Amino acid sequence: MRAAYIHELGTPDAIRYGELPAPRPGPTDVLVDTTATTVNPVDTYVRSGLYRTPVPFPFVLGRDLVGTVAEAPPGAAGFRAGDRVWCNSLGHGGRQGAAAEQAVVAADRLYHLPAGVDPYQAVTLLHPAATAYLALFAHGRLGPGQTVLIAGAAGNVGAALVTLAARAGARVLATASARDAAYCAELGAGEVFDYRDPDLAGTLRGAAPEGVDLHLDTSGGNDLQAAVGLLAPRGRAVLLSGARTRPVLPVGPLYTHDRAVIGFALSNATTDELARAARAVNDLLARGALRPRATETFPLSATAGIHTRMERGELRGIRVVLRPDLS
Ligand SMILES: NC(=O)c1ccc[n+]([C@@H]2O[C@H](COP(=O)([O-])OP(=O)(O)OC[C@H]3O[C@@H](n4cnc5c(N)ncnc54)[C@H](OP(=O)(O)O)[C@@H]3O)[C@@H](O)[C@H]2O)c1
Repeated sequence: MRAAYIHELGTPDAIRYGELPAPRPGPTDVLVDTTATTVNPVDTYVRSGLYRTPVPFPFVLGRDLVGTVAEAPPGAAGFRAGDRVWCNSLGHGGRQGAAAEQAVVAADRLYHLPAGVDPYQAVTLLHPAATAYLALFAHGRLGPGQTVLIAGAAGNVGAALVTLAARAGARVLATASARDAAYCAELGAGEVFDYRDPDLAGTLRGAAPEGVDLHLDTSGGNDLQAAVGLLAPRGRAVLLSGARTRPVLPVGPLYTHDRAVIGFALSNATTDELARAARAVNDLLARGALRPRATETFPLSATAGIHTRMERGELRGIRVVLRPDLS
C-alpha cells in the first residue's frame, strides 16, 4: 500500500511517499481502507520530535482518518466490512498513523460515521472537535450558565470550542483578529474582542467583572499573569498549546482564590474519554453543527508539502483533506 511515512524524526524533508507492506490486524483490530486523512499541528510535532512518543520506523504519519471497514474479525464487535468509520488517535503511542491507503485500528478507537455526513468535511473536524469537547467538559468542567473565555477563537480548535461551549449554555467571550469577529459571533460567541487591543486584559475584566470560570488559549501565548487575573474564584485555566512557552505563574492570586491551571493533551485521553468525545462529535456532525471554515484537497503524496505549509503558518483558516485515491 502507499503511505506517507518517515524513517527518522526530522524536517518535512524526512517524509517519504511510497510503498509499505499492508498492515495486519490483530484479533481485536479493524482493517480500514482510508477515504481521507488530514494534517493537524500535532502531526508536525510527532514528525519533528517536539512531542516525544513511541514511533516504530518506518512510521506512518497522521492522527485522523475517515474510511471504510475492509476486514473486521469477530473480536472487533460492532464493525462489519463496508461500514463507514473514523478514528482520531492513530500515529502516536506506538500506533502507526492514518496517512496510508490502509490502517489498522483497535476496535475501541474506531467509531461509525453518522449516515449522510460528508467524510471529507468530517475528517477535518475530528481532532479539533474532540479536543474542544475534552478541554471544555472533562478538564475544564464547564457547566451551563458559566462564563468561558476562548482566546484564539477563530482557529480550528477555537471555533470548535466556541461552538461546543455555546451549545452547552455557557456565556462565551472570545478573542480573535478583528476581521474574524463576525465569524466567531456566528459560531456562538456572545462577545468578541480584538486580541491586538493594547488593554485587552482591562477590556476583558470590564466584560466579566466577576471573572471567568474557564480560560482557554489556543494561540499558545499562555500569559498566565493575565489569565489567572481574569479567573473567578475556583476558575480554571486549561493549557493546551504553546509547548515551548515558559510563563511566570502568579502563585498568590492562584491559590488564595482556589483557582487552577490544568494541562491537557488529547494524546493522553483514555479510550473511554475518546469514545465519549466521539459520541458528542458524532451528534454535532449528524446535526450539521460543525463545519470547517475552508478546505483544500490534495493527494496523499502531498503530505510533506502540507507539513511545510503548516509550519510556515500558511494554512490560516484552511483545513487540508488528503486523499489516497487522488494522484
Ligand atoms: N492539547 C491538545 O490536545 C491540542 C489538540 C489540538 C490542537 N492543539 C494546539 O492548539 C493550537 C491551535 O491549533 P489550531 O489548529 O486551532 O490553530 P489555528 O487554527 O492556527 O488557530 C490559532 C488561532 O490563534 C489566533 N491567535 C494568534 N495569536 C493570538 C493572540 N495573541 N490572542 C488570541 N488569538 C491569537 C490566530 O489568529 P490569527 O491567525 O488572526 O493571528 C488563530 O485564529 C496549536 O498549538 C495546536 O498544537 C492542542
